[in-house]
Amino acid sequence: MPQVIGVPKENATGEKRVATVPEVVEKLIKLGFKVAVQSGAGDAANFSDDVYRAAGAEIVADAAALWANSDIVFKVRGPSTEEVGLLRNGGTLISFIWPAQNPELMQQLAARKATVLAIDALPRVLSRAQKMDALTSQAGVAGYRAVIEAANAFGRFFNGQITAAGKVPPAKVFIAGAGVAGLAAIGTAAGLGAIVRANDTRAEVADQVASLGGEFVKVDYEEEGSGGGGYAKVMSEGFQHAQREMYAKQAREVDIIITTALIPGKPAPKLITAEMVKSMKPGSVIVDMAAEQGGNCELTEPGQAVVKHGVTIIGYTDLVSRLAKQSSTLYSTNLFRLAEELCKSKDGIINVNMEDDAIRGLTVIKDGAVTWPAPPIKLAVPPAAAKSVVAVPAAKKGHGHGGGAPMAGGKLAIMFAVAAVMFWFIGANAPGAFLGHFTVFVLACFVGYMVVWNVTPALHTPLMSVTNAISSIIVIGALVQIAPPLLTDSGLSRPDEMIRWLAVAGIALTAINMFGGFAVTQRMLAMFRK
Ligand code: NAI
Repeated sequence: MPQVIGVPKENATGEKRVATVPEVVEKLIKLGFKVAVQSGAGDAANFSDDVYRAAGAEIVADAAALWANSDIVFKVRGPSTEEVGLLRNGGTLISFIWPAQNPELMQQLAARKATVLAIDALPRVLSRAQKMDALTSQAGVAGYRAVIEAANAFGRFFNGQITAAGKVPPAKVFIAGAGVAGLAAIGTAAGLGAIVRANDTRAEVADQVASLGGEFVKVDYEEEGSGGGGYAKVMSEGFQHAQREMYAKQAREVDIIITTALIPGKPAPKLITAEMVKSMKPGSVIVDMAAEQGGNCELTEPGQAVVKHGVTIIGYTDLVSRLAKQSSTLYSTNLFRLAEELCKSKDGIINVNMEDDAIRGLTVIKDGAVTWPAPPIKLAVPPAAAKSVVAVPAAKKGHGHGGGAPMAGGKLAIMFAVAAVMFWFIGANAPGAFLGHFTVFVLACFVGYMVVWNVTPALHTPLMSVTNAISSIIVIGALVQIAPPLLTDSGLSRPDEMIRWLAVAGIALTAINMFGGFAVTQRMLAMFRK
């Protein structure tokens, strides 16, 4: 018998998301499950009961009936006490739980002999778990929305413009903390045309900031900010002092500050003081994404947008719900990927395999026994690198040298020795003509490698098109063929007419390649110039 996945309506105040969208209902049914959705569950995210029905879900009128009939419940927020009472004895629940902060909820769920997978407990250091990483998908939405909220409260354009009515300077945006939300905010603000600067205590994110169009502003103080697992640590007094000075300078210069600084399990670091707010230009905006953890700005009021010293300070804690359709779609895709892992046999029956690192990490209660926290995972890849892949997959791809463990010295020596023997063999046996070409080939590989390797990933595409344009050097061949007749010892030597016409066509086509390549490069580079 296939299991039933139930999707209740979220009942927390202000929560507009839904754990499963109609598109994902279809996919879950293909995995063999039956899906039941509480009537009105998707209303706030613009998914009507009819659309769910058309996707194959059964619509259930009330919460009690839905919970009673569901083998597995998909939710966004952790359940209320009332909802725990509705969960079937021995049922499975998949939602955000935050076990460290909610010990009572954990006890209640354990008493129901439930199996609980906390989506927030996903081991983010596993790169294969990225597709299930709801923290990342939701923080990305929040970072985007923070910029939109800032743009809404800001009285000017983000991009610089030259109009008949005068010149408009671009807005300057400073992002404090370049984790998942911060990087999404950098990309969004740069996309709108603002000048974007960012700072983070983890220096390793500087490349990612640059590849998204931002400028990384360093604190003038040497200290490693990584606390392991891709997260930050609390910094020394000396560092904090230097950082405050730099932030004070930025506050005087920029129009918008978006703060996302977070150290897990600690209150949000206070980075923007009341003095700094006072020093900002009137009409400036601060979006404090850490409002719920106490705020990165001293004057933030959680959940509110307030104006203090002429600066709008936005402390909304529901940024994700303000883009409910998008965040629900991403969240439910994360849950679907998890369902695929849980139901590899595609027969609509889940198997919570505790031998699997990702599933083990997620499972906080198994058949009533608390299994949280999971033992740490042993990794071949350093966690910092793995987490940054989670943050910006596209940016990371271009870096050949970010990922794997450094090659051991012994291995490297063996590789060099093998290569040397190969070269000796080729040199001793190959014909002379081949050797000349081979030498040029090896040198070209070396030069090409050195040129491309140090180029910022974001510039790879312009580099490709300029290389393409340069390859039009072959036009010289066509030009030689089209040349006027030559006087040789045996009289006038005139190239064949057909060859000349072919050469004309060759020149025309190569010209497109050459001029087009340079033009495309210019246009692409213009996108990076401010
Ligand atoms: P994350 O852990 O990926 O990023 C936080 C970043 O802050 C890290 O890169 C860390 O190195 C940096 N950081 C820590 N201390 C710092 C300091 N003193 N100075 C500069 N940088 C520092 O976290 P994520 O997922 O990006 O979330 C960021 C914040 O946004 C969190 O506070 C989270 O709760 C909040 N959030 C708020 C939402 C809302 O609706 N308001 C929705 C989603 C997330």
